[in-house]
Amino acid sequence: CALQLSVPSIAEFDSVALQSAVDRAYDSFKNVKEGANANYIPILDEVPSDLFGVAIVTRDGEMFVAGDVDYRFSIQSVSKPFTAALIMAQQGPEAVREKIGVEPTGLPFNSKVAIEIYEERSGNPMVNAGAIAAVSLVQAETEEERWELINDNIQGFAGEKLQVLEEVYTSEYETAWGNRAIANLLFNYGRLYAEPEEALRVYTRQCSIGINTRDLAVMGGTLANEGTNPLTGREMLPARHVPELLAIMATAGFYDESGAWMFSAGLPSKTGVGGGVVSVVPGKFAIAAFSPRLNEAGNSVRAQRAIRQIAGDLGVGLY
Ligand code: DON
Repeated sequence: CALQLSVPSIAEFDSVALQSAVDRAYDSFKNVKEGANANYIPILDEVPSDLFGVAIVTRDGEMFVAGDVDYRFSIQSVSKPFTAALIMAQQGPEAVREKIGVEPTGLPFNSKVAIEIYEERSGNPMVNAGAIAAVSLVQAETEEERWELINDNIQGFAGEKLQVLEEVYTSEYETAWGNRAIANLLFNYGRLYAEPEEALRVYTRQCSIGINTRDLAVMGGTLANEGTNPLTGREMLPARHVPELLAIMATAGFYDESGAWMFSAGLPSKTGVGGGVVSVVPGKFAIAAFSPRLNEAGNSVRAQRAIRQIAGDLGVGLY
């Protein structure tokens, strides 16, 4: 008889299984206190550390939630794959490969050393250098247009009107000396495609967009649904480019912890210092979690544990 591959179809994940995986993850980790809020962006230290939200959005737009899923936090680095998607949609994936890079750096998200030692300079669109390069690469005539395109794209993935958290923007921009150095270094090497201070401002604004855990799950759900937002039906990324974006998330979404993350969770993902993490089960659903306390690499402790447990409960690790 023919060999049967046991790839689960979405139908195998009934609503009860999805809701109980979300509930179990919330209950298992709600009392964990390990880690600390990011404080290199001063205002992030003021976000209540005990907040914890978990959500799943399926490719057909069903949502399962537990905890503080309505609290608005700054998207931070979770924005990065979505702006990379915008470049892919606008200019094709080769633009990302050639003008930014797709190699993991194996170094922290804000590494300047990586810019000096790798010929690509910007590394990949998941680290700060590559993300600032991505912002600069968006085809736009003015700073305002650059921002509008990026903001509209992120809102399109979320299927919601989103607001910039202005206090986060101010707090980060006033202290953004490291990112300013990165933008200037890239410009020096011919790997930034707009004026450095403009790219820095728009990048910082992108990172300051407020989202909640539901929005984040819908953003991931759009990637799980081959690039089309399951709530609005808007195509954000042509389906043929989704695998290329997920490959970058898989290899670099957790920076210098990407290997350990793929080893333990097995899902393309992206983290942010606001405490958000989103993981994609291609063709099926996305898991999002939010909790402000981070580990040393800048990745949310409880969000990681929640997602890892859900992936295990539902048996959806890719490898
Ligand atoms: O550029 C920064 O440092 C922040 N706006 C984003 C960094 C970040 O989220 C790293 N991720 N875990």
